[in-house]
Amino acid sequence: MQTQSIGYMDAPIPEGIDLKAEINKLRKEKNAVILAHYYQTGDIQDIADFVGDSLALAQWAARTKADIIVMCGVHFMGETAKILCPDKKVLVPDMNAGCSLADSCPAGEFETFVKGHPGYTVISYVNTTAAVKALTDIVVTSTNARQIVESLPEDTPILFGPDRNLGNYINSITGRKMLLWNGACHVHEQFSLEKILELKKKYPDAEILTHPECKKAVVEVSDFVGSTAALLKHSVKSEKQQFIVATESGVIHEMRKQSPGKEFIPAPPSDSSCACNECNFMRLNTMKKLYNCLKFELPEIFIDENIQKKAILPIRRMLDISEKLGL
Ligand code: 13P
Ligand code: SF4
Repeated sequence: MQTQSIGYMDAPIPEGIDLKAEINKLRKEKNAVILAHYYQTGDIQDIADFVGDSLALAQWAARTKADIIVMCGVHFMGETAKILCPDKKVLVPDMNAGCSLADSCPAGEFETFVKGHPGYTVISYVNTTAAVKALTDIVVTSTNARQIVESLPEDTPILFGPDRNLGNYINSITGRKMLLWNGACHVHEQFSLEKILELKKKYPDAEILTHPECKKAVVEVSDFVGSTAALLKHSVKSEKQQFIVATESGVIHEMRKQSPGKEFIPAPPSDSSCACNECNFMRLNTMKKLYNCLKFELPEIFIDENIQKKAILPIRRMLDISEKLGL
């Protein structure tokens, strides 16, 4: 991955400094809230005011009274917060924290896809740029995609983007025939069915917990499929003691915290020479960058006003439907 070097992100940290104490001091002084996704490193999850999945992060951003939102996640999560709170300062500790799934859907090409299908309702996964959201009727996350699709009349023609795996999964469980954009996440597509089945032989009692961004073959052998928050909740509720976790391994930090007696085994990627079950974008954020981000109030997310005004509508629709559904 090519990253851009931005001086203040890597500014030297004063020697002997207690990073946790300094971050706490800065967030109080500046009335900042730290939101973190489950794929962040454990130290960032532990210091955050709130840890959640994409839907919960958007819901939290929409209601916070803080002046500054520090989004410890990837760029689209920061953009979603900024779209919802255009008057607040929204920071992401490392501006290079992108998302391969969002990158698989350039706004110009998506616009051609949408224009080529007049009369279709456009549903976009939250893992998209603000410009793609501006072309969308309703945004969804993996927590609410099924319910939002099912809330539309059965004969509604739907375009769904950008994740082909999530789209196929939703089609399979709802019986809909949404037309899919052909995008994917480089982390979730890497999980190896063969290695997961080998693990299952070694741990026959383990449940396989899978994110719907994974390929169909992995989803099909799973015991439970859901968003990061749903996988976490299931791991707490389940009577099983062992779990093979087919999503970014950061979520295991919170799973172990909430169920200290249970065993969580990260599903391996097909190429065992790399840690492909870690999202290299998510892992760009570090405690040092979080500290510098609060100190310098940089890097900041900016969104074109016209795009923000269009993109807030499908996100608001998602939040309203989710609230009605109690999600
Ligand atoms: P969740 O909304 O399930 O947390 O997923 C976010 C994500 O980026 C998955 O790769
Ligand atoms: Fe994007 Fe995949 Fe990383 Fe999630 S895990 S942020 S979908 S690249």
